[in-house]
Amino acid sequence: MSVRYQDHVDDLSPDHLRGGFWDGWSPNPPTPETHLALLRGSTHRVVAIDEATGHVVGFVTAVSDGVLCAYIPLLEVLPAYKGRGIGTELMRRLLAALDDHYMIDLLCDEDVQPFYARLGMQTTTGMAVRNYDRQAGADLPA
Ligand SMILES: CC(C)(COP(=O)(O)OP(=O)(O)OC[C@H]1O[C@@H](n2cnc3c(N)ncnc32)[C@H](O)[C@@H]1OP(=O)(O)O)[C@@H](O)C(=O)NCCC(=O)NCCS
Repeated sequence: MSVRYQDHVDDLSPDHLRGGFWDGWSPNPPTPETHLALLRGSTHRVVAIDEATGHVVGFVTAVSDGVLCAYIPLLEVLPAYKGRGIGTELMRRLLAALDDHYMIDLLCDEDVQPFYARLGMQTTTGMAVRNYDRQAGADLPA
């Protein structure tokens, strides 16, 4: 299996994102159209593409103020592609792109902390708001 990585989605359509992302987001996951919109809207993103199919098999996003601070809201690798180093490579590329920032934050469950610790991240505490009725995203412009 050959996977390529890119930091843009200029050549992608929603059809490239129909692989079954949003594990655990039932019953109202973002649509592939919304997925593409958030990849475009993020200041930074890295996608992993299976060269055999052309489909996205993993992605990570970041939003940055362009000066000091960045937040990493989303990282996911499709189940069939997990355990092959794709999540690590997505994060490695994103952190490299953000390495001029002072603070780079994300929230995660405790069981994933070892994965991020191996990338040099440290445990901290945080607070959050979750509007679960907006989990599929705001309406896209027509
Ligand atoms: C977390 C995730 C992105 C990792 O992607 P991946 O491509 O499977 O990761 P890698 O193959 O690079 O794994 C690297 C190492 O991290 C470990 N690891 C992966 N996922 C882990 C998890 N959820 N908890 C603990 N360790 C994990 C792997 O065992 C592997 O260790 P090894 O090399 O000793 O076997 C993937 O499991 C995923 O999409 N999970 C569902 C969504 C999610 O939890 N995203 C993070 C939100 S904060």
